[in-house]
Amino acid sequence: MEKEKELGKPQQITFDITDRCQLKCVTCSKWKTVASEVMPSELTTQEWKKILSDLKNWLGEGFWFCFSGGEPFLRPDIFELAEHAHSLGIKVASMTNGFSIQHLYEKIADSPIESLNLSLNAINNPLIHDTSRGREGSYEKTLDAIFTLKKMRDERHKPLGINIATIMLPENLDEIIPLVEFVTKNKINGIMFQLMDDKESFHGYFYQKSCTTSTYKMPKELRQKYKEMEKKATEVVNRLIEMKQAGHSIYNSYEQLEAMKIFFNNPDDILQNIKCDVGSTNYAIDPYGNVRLCFNMLPVGNIKENSPEEIWENENSQKCREMTKTCKMYCRMLNCNFKHNFANFNKTFMQKCINKLKKICGGK
Ligand SMILES: C[S@@+](CC[C@H](N)C(=O)[O-])C[C@H]1O[C@@H](n2cnc3c(N)ncnc32)[C@H](O)[C@@H]1O
Ligand code: SF4
Ligand code: SF4
Repeated sequence: MEKEKELGKPQQITFDITDRCQLKCVTCSKWKTVASEVMPSELTTQEWKKILSDLKNWLGEGFWFCFSGGEPFLRPDIFELAEHAHSLGIKVASMTNGFSIQHLYEKIADSPIESLNLSLNAINNPLIHDTSRGREGSYEKTLDAIFTLKKMRDERHKPLGINIATIMLPENLDEIIPLVEFVTKNKINGIMFQLMDDKESFHGYFYQKSCTTSTYKMPKELRQKYKEMEKKATEVVNRLIEMKQAGHSIYNSYEQLEAMKIFFNNPDDILQNIKCDVGSTNYAIDPYGNVRLCFNMLPVGNIKENSPEEIWENENSQKCREMTKTCKMYCRMLNCNFKHNFANFNKTFMQKCINKLKKICGGK
């Protein structure tokens, strides 16, 4: 009989500190969250700090976690939480849409955040970005955030990795290669591409009552979009593989890029061979303290009632883990199931810093 693999510890920890957002992305529905309804239920600063201390006691120092949401910079206490994490020896990353962080540049540059991942869906055609993000002017603001923070980082010699996250959409396929060229030309740390998911799976958790994998199939509309992309997307991914081989900083692994090509050609084909891994790698805490291993499944516990470790080992988690291993949903193609990706955001950046330091110190 196959020996059951010993349960390790989570590798990808996400703090979705709010579901609220000021954009209206066509791919997402978090923005439908009504602030006055959810704010009283969001975890407090003290509750998040306790979670950080509990995680440190369980996982030790040196692990990474990522602030996400909604738009995480809508919570003014994000900096206090980042400082607390830093004081415990925990590494901090954050996602952002870059839309309303202009007044926060100084604070971000001086904060212990070591990896900032800005979402950008186009570079040559601002309209494509703005349309996909649902608000005019977002292209300009996100670009300003990228350039200003990079300049501040360089001037202050801060270890702040600046990365780009791009969804591959039927509308932006002509933008994908120029985005990689933009990253290389402007010495941005790197770029990660994500396949498009159904917008309902990016729904505010407050309203997501009972989504289970048995009720969640690939919606017709999404399948149609993948069909539209098929030929061109394969060409684009082939070019991405060549560019990665030539040294462009593309964080998606070769394994995932190859899998994407097969997926575009025939989604059902590739999915037969990929097992979902999220049950033994992911640990996501939503704004209300619920913990999920899979973002599409029901919570396995609430951090207000049990410690992070107890939840990881409880019966709900074990059941969820079993379900994830045999899950047939198409989101096995998404980045959270290709575990090297997000970790690479940080590791690649750290390696570059080490190489730079070695050069400065004459290889010592
Ligand atoms: C839900 S957002 C939260 C963080 C922040 N608000 C942002 O947009 O960067 C996290 C990432 O998911 C991406 N995203 C949104 N809708 C998506 C979808 N339907 N499929 C795949 N990724 C999506 C966003 O572009 C962003 O890079
Ligand atoms: S993808 Fe991010 S920016 Fe867009 S609506 Fe969702 S949470 Fe907001
Ligand atoms: S494929 Fe993985 S991430 Fe998607 S629903 Fe199944 S278990 Fe969850």
